[in-house]
Amino acid sequence: MNKIAIIVGAAVVLAGGYYLGKMGQQPATVIKVGSESKAAFTSTGAEEVAAAAAGVVRSLATPTSGELIVVKDGESIQDAVVAASPGAVIKVMPGTYKETVYIDKDNITLSGVIEQGKYPVLEGEGLRNDAVLYSGNGVTVENLYITHYKGNGVMGQAGNNFIIRNNYIVDTGVYGIFPQLGKNGIVSHNIVSGIEDAGIYVGMSDNVDVVFNQVFDSVAGIEIENSRHALVESNFVYNNTGGILAFITPGLPIKTCGDVLIRNNFVVDNNHDNFAIPGSLVSNIPHGTGVLVMACDDVVVEGNIITGNNSVGITFTDFSLAGNAANDPDSEPNPNRPRILNNIMQDNGKDPAPAVRAVLAAMLETTGPDIVDTVGMDDGCILNPERFRTIGLGKYTDCEFSTTANVASYTLPEPVPARSMEDVDKGRLVYYGVCAGCHAYGSRMIGPPTQIIQALYMDNPEGIAEYAANPVKKREDYPQMPPQSHLDDETRLAAARFMLKLTQ
Ligand code: HEC
Repeated sequence: MNKIAIIVGAAVVLAGGYYLGKMGQQPATVIKVGSESKAAFTSTGAEEVAAAAAGVVRSLATPTSGELIVVKDGESIQDAVVAASPGAVIKVMPGTYKETVYIDKDNITLSGVIEQGKYPVLEGEGLRNDAVLYSGNGVTVENLYITHYKGNGVMGQAGNNFIIRNNYIVDTGVYGIFPQLGKNGIVSHNIVSGIEDAGIYVGMSDNVDVVFNQVFDSVAGIEIENSRHALVESNFVYNNTGGILAFITPGLPIKTCGDVLIRNNFVVDNNHDNFAIPGSLVSNIPHGTGVLVMACDDVVVEGNIITGNNSVGITFTDFSLAGNAANDPDSEPNPNRPRILNNIMQDNGKDPAPAVRAVLAAMLETTGPDIVDTVGMDDGCILNPERFRTIGLGKYTDCEFSTTANVASYTLPEPVPARSMEDVDKGRLVYYGVCAGCHAYGSRMIGPPTQIIQALYMDNPEGIAEYAANPVKKREDYPQMPPQSHLDDETRLAAARFMLKLTQ
């Protein structure tokens, strides 16, 4: 399958263009049926009772056309997507599918059929980068078993109104579920494990509910990064290096993180060794971290059971933990207005990671606290502080409210329109959609900072484009960059030009 389609497709389809992939051998079966509604339960509204039961499947009202395509074992899911019109439902029967699926059309439902516990399996064989990449709006990805990919299980690039639910994601490389630059979405009932960065990673997005997921054996369990209005609720997050994180990565195009509600989760025994790619931001997370809030504002932590995390139960901090992340003058580093309501915390801090142990030693402590605020914010609040062992909360006051039960969801009642791409040129889209996954402007991520690349390639975008197509190993302390040869020459050059123009 021609991977050009993903990025060019992302650019042109959102502007009303066509998919550029080529058809494979086995045509998919297309059946027309009567109109079908996707919405089992349309969230939300303050009047609804918060904390819906686990069995209630949240949904969004995204239109379907009535077209149904069935993909059987031995057929290609991508062919079905190519054949589909916007609004189609694609049912994938149990079987093994060795491919990457690109969805760049709107309102596509990619729905696995599970028979007696047998899933349709997307098998990356340790060779393919991504299992499912979508850039369309109103995309649903559900009921798939995804394993052995190197990059992402399910990744969204600028698609709004997305639903990613009930998937089983095992050992898929860097990110398990990664909606990026999306607005209005649901990530629910997924089981994610063995991920070397974040199991569930909501990046530069707005209005997302991450609910009823199970995430374990990964570096970061659930990560809300440079995003606003996120509800992280009723998840079971255990045996990761860090359980639930809300933070700003400096140097990304969206500079803020805020209004994140971390509620009613189990955050248990997150003591896994950190096996992140050295130099990546999450490689700085001390093992034994329960909840970590870095530079993210207006975070409420309520009703969680946070136990057995060997460094610290809840940490509020600034960029000091970001390690190599250079200061971004446009990102304010403090975790403003932290609010800690009632939580159950027990057995945290028993065996702190070396970095935490060193900080504690300076305070003549050996055990990590339940809650620490490394900045010492003076606009925070906490209920019943005497129940917990705390450090740095001296200026916290009593909270003015004791529950957030009036908030049922952060998704929006109506689908939001597609992101306007008119003013987004191709280079910008590809840079932020692809390169920025590993390159930040002034700080080290998986790859070197863009600033350094600018210095190396000042007037030479062709050189960047060429390197991106055929990268060679240059730096001892970085992994090798994967070839971006799936992007055509023109696209790579556009990204390179944009990369050189970037100023923050
Ligand atoms: C999956 C992560 C990843 C992605 C995606 C990625 N890079 Fe990289 N990039 C790296 C890493 C890691 C290095 C350092 C490699 C080394 O030094 O051996 C690197 C290095 C580079 C360099 C430095 C080359 C030199 O001469 O030192 C350039 C230029 C570059 N990348 C451009 C790009 C562009 C353009 C894109 C997007 C089209 C991109 N990269 C996407 C990880 C990535």
